[in-house]
This record gives sequence, C-alpha cells and structure tokens, in this order.
Amino acid sequence: EKGKYRHFMQKEIFEQPTVVAQTLRSYLRPGEQRVALPQIDFDITAIDRITIVACGTSYYAGLVAKYWFEQFARVPVDIDFASEFRYREPILPKGGLALFISQSGETADTLAALQHCKKQGQVIASVVNVPTSSMARESDLLLPTHAGPEIGVASTKAFTCQLAVLAALAAHFAVKKGLLNRNEEAIIVEHLLEAPACLNAALDHDEEIAEMAHLIAPARDVLYLGRGADFPLALEGALKLKEISYIHAEGYASGEMKHGPIALIDDKVPVIVLAPSGPLFEKTVSNMQEVQARGGKVVLISDKQGIEQAGEDCMAVIEMPKVHPLIAPLVYAVPVQLLAYHVAVAKGTDVDQPRNLAKSVTVE
Ligand code: F6R
Repeated sequence: EKGKYRHFMQKEIFEQPTVVAQTLRSYLRPGEQRVALPQIDFDITAIDRITIVACGTSYYAGLVAKYWFEQFARVPVDIDFASEFRYREPILPKGGLALFISQSGETADTLAALQHCKKQGQVIASVVNVPTSSMARESDLLLPTHAGPEIGVASTKAFTCQLAVLAALAAHFAVKKGLLNRNEEAIIVEHLLEAPACLNAALDHDEEIAEMAHLIAPARDVLYLGRGADFPLALEGALKLKEISYIHAEGYASGEMKHGPIALIDDKVPVIVLAPSGPLFEKTVSNMQEVQARGGKVVLISDKQGIEQAGEDCMAVIEMPKVHPLIAPLVYAVPVQLLAYHVAVAKGTDVDQPRNLAKSVTVE
C-alpha cells in the first residue's frame, strides 16, 4: 500500500530513516556502544582479501564498502559486476571471503558468481533483503538488511540499508583486527546511530528538490561528480536518473573530469556535485570550478560549511546536515534519489515501473 504517497518509490525513500534504524539495530549494541554482528564462525583476522560481487545499485553499495574496508579495516577489496566476474576467471585467494550484495537475493549473475566462489572454497557472505532467497540459503554468513519489501523498481531503501550493514561489517573487521580501540568503536557506533536522524534532515529538503527538478527535467545529459566514498553515490545518482527519467546521465570521480568528460560541458549540461565538507572537499571544489569556468551549471550538494565556502556561483544548492564521512554516503543518497524521483515526476514517466526494467533480474 502506498498510503499518502504517490508512488512506491517515494514511499520507500521516506521509509529510509525507519528501515535503516531497524537494520542497524541488528548490527549494533547501542547501550554498550559496540558493533555486534551475528555469530561468525570463521577467523576474521585470517581474511586478507575480500571479493565483492553484485549488480546495479547493489554494486554501488559494494563500491562504497570497498573504501570503508580499506580505510578502516585495512583489508584489500576486489570488486566486480557479477556479469564480468563470472567470465573473467578471477583469481581467488585461499580462504578468502566472497561477499555478495543483493536486494532480491535472486539476481541470476550474482547467484551464479556466488555458486562459483562456493565451489572454489571461498567463505560466502551475503547482504540480502529477502531472507528466504537463494543467495541467503546458499551463504555461510547471512547479513540481512531489514528494509522490508521494496516494490519500486528503482532501488532506494535497500541501498541505504545495505550501506548500514556494510559500515557495521567494516567496523567489525576493524575491531577484530585491533585497528579500532574501545573508544574509537564507540565513536563509530555513535555516528552510525545518528544516521536515521540525518536521513530525516535530508528528507526535509523534499519540496526544495521538487522545485529544482524543473531545472534538470529539460536537460538531455546530466553529470554527477563525487570523490572517495561519495564517488559511488555519483554513479548511483546517475543510474537513478537514467532509469526513471530516461535522461542520459553519467557519474564520474571528480578528478577524472579533466581526462575527458569535461569536453561535454556547456551551459546545457547540469552537473550535480556531491561534496560534503571534509578532507576531500577542496579537491572536489576545484574540479567543480573547472566545470563552472566552462559554463557548466552546477547543483552543489554539501553541508552548511561547504555551501558557504563554494556555493556562490552554483545554479542551485542542497544543504545536507553536517555528517561524519562514514555516514555521508547514506545521507547523500537521499538528495540524489529525490532529485531523480522529482525529475521523473516532472517528466510524467512511470516512476514505479520504468520501461524495459524488471525488479528482479533472473535472466543472465
Ligand atoms: C537500480 C536497480 C538495479 C538493481 C540490480 C541488482 O535501481 O534496482 O540496478 O540494483 O538489478 O538487483 P539485486 O540487488 O536484487 O541483486
């Protein structure tokens, strides 16, 4: 049931504070300020490489997790699209952990990749939203997201719940490896617990984004830029826009602009820049200014400090709450989802059932 909402996608975007909180509850012990994962019966400290495999939006969640695992837990991560992974004869480390991410738990390529890794003796973990799915059943370690049924074809709440689980998992690895002490663990748990309130604050910009959508709707092409763990959000923003509004969109690592895509820039190409203030801010802003110098029309998504510093010459700005870099990818997912949603509504497309797409891709 859609209740007061016009579309399932809209309802699911707005459910995120609740379902992320629900998901975090099974991975954190707030009272003790600790990370608490389900029973893991293998030695985490012995895992020296993680292979992440997924498709689409779930793949982008995995890409964010790569930054987290490497930064916090110092575990190298290999990541690939399931459809590539299966056919490239990947070299799997002995006793490695293979991690699969899927809302449905039934995506054909991801499932086949899982079965391949299982045959190769990898430890199989999966982050899935449907606990009775094939992937859930075939995993050694099941890490469920508690997003509830996702009806809209474009994935939204499953994505932020995947990020919540993956952040907790990366923190757990870091704790087990002795890279986070008791106090640092408590701080991370505290930041994760702030995520639902920050998601709510991001959702408060709904109306403003709906108005802004009219600036984007006439465009033929849109670019999204981000850096570090927010780079995958640029990819996710572009995917959301493409699939429901049918506007051509690309996500780039902001530093890659000058290696080609900047040639596309003129005053008809809106550029959405995801840049929370923090250590990477200055670099991203200098890429943004290169875009502006070529007439590019920028929508800057940042916090108050970032907008004060760099928002002046932008076509529009969206102010996010100030967040810890760990939860920025969760929070910044909201404005890119809302932007895609409102552009699609403005264009009158079928938001919940975009053309040519199926909710669960069970063909290869
Ligand atoms: C995009 C979208 C798809 C899915 C992809 C994987 O909005 O929904 O890209 O993310 O088909 O599906 P799951 O996560 O079910 O394996």
